[in-house]
Amino acid sequence: MYNSKIIGLGYYVPDNVVTNDDLSKVMDTNDAWIQERTGIKERRHVVKGDGDTTTTMGVKAAKIAIERAGIDKDDIDFIVFATLSPDYYFPGPGVLVQRDLGIKTVGALDVRNQCSGFVYGISVADQYIKTGMYKNVLVIGSELHSHGLDMTTRGRGVSVIFGDGAGAAVLSREEDTTKGILSTHLHSEGQHAEELSLIAPGMGKRWVNDIIADNDPNDESYFPYMNGQFVFKNAVVRFSEVIMEGLEANKLAPTAIDMLVPHQANLRISQFIQKKFQLSDDQVFNNIMNYGNTTAASIPIALTEAWEQGKIKKGDLVVLAAFGSGFTWGSAIIRW
Ligand code: ACO
Repeated sequence: MYNSKIIGLGYYVPDNVVTNDDLSKVMDTNDAWIQERTGIKERRHVVKGDGDTTTTMGVKAAKIAIERAGIDKDDIDFIVFATLSPDYYFPGPGVLVQRDLGIKTVGALDVRNQCSGFVYGISVADQYIKTGMYKNVLVIGSELHSHGLDMTTRGRGVSVIFGDGAGAAVLSREEDTTKGILSTHLHSEGQHAEELSLIAPGMGKRWVNDIIADNDPNDESYFPYMNGQFVFKNAVVRFSEVIMEGLEANKLAPTAIDMLVPHQANLRISQFIQKKFQLSDDQVFNNIMNYGNTTAASIPIALTEAWEQGKIKKGDLVVLAAFGSGFTWGSAIIRW
């Protein structure tokens, strides 16, 4: 058995900055409300027609990660793509990345685990590398939320939170099993599926043919729904549990954490976790202020920025943790 380690990281966000004041011009909201409740100052939105999609952003992030990994694209043995906002209903973006990067006909897997998608993706890649089946796996998290949000006052409880962007990591074989990804921990609780969801178009409640027949502009099932306070309460419990589970599995205490990179759901959630584990500001990385919540892309964007800023060094204990729609949650414990 081997371990896997992250050998290359990259991210891409669209140039277009949307501030809280910009949002207050199209809906009844304001900078103070958004900052106080979420910590977000601005986010990036793709400009319609400029060519950015979930896949193209993922490809841009992946190219940077592959270059930094110092490998050739043809050294990639498998692709994992996590998103809740795919270009197409089917096929998923994994095969589009394989095509657009011009990689030989390797397998491509799409992960549908929303905010936990990148941690799930890392876990999948880790298992393949551990067993020796693959040597280099490309994991991408990418989201284009802005075109699918209700940008009116009706949708303000959700639409102010989310932003667009992509992050990517190349995982590779590590012979020393005391280094790299030490363990991953995944969970789900489908009984709360509808508490944070987008149900149309789908085959469960809103069939495509019904939507076309109804042609109802007031149909809210096209837009994401979030029971914000319920999500918040569950998030703080599950984040804490899954971080602790990961640490205990490796016989480590919270004091061992050099850098916690939580999914950027809401600054208040990150601050709650920081306080609970008594971590200093240097031990937790947050960039939700600049990008909002980019769902599956949030951890790889944050991890890349933390690494670029020299905040993650060789030998550090890095903890990734996520919670989101499903509900799903997970953690990864990494010796860098
Ligand atoms: N601007 C101004 N007012 C708003 C806005 C807005 N953007 N959105 C809602 N309001 C109003 C509401 O209408 C409500 O008004 P009322 O009191 O007159 O009825 C009031 O503000 C309070 O609304 P709440 O929904 O109760 O506000 P809350 O304090 O719960 O904050 C929030 C909402 C930020 C969504 C919070 O519940 C939260 O952070 N939840 C966690 C969910 C989360 O982080 N989701 C991220 C995505 S999921 C994930 O990644 C885990």
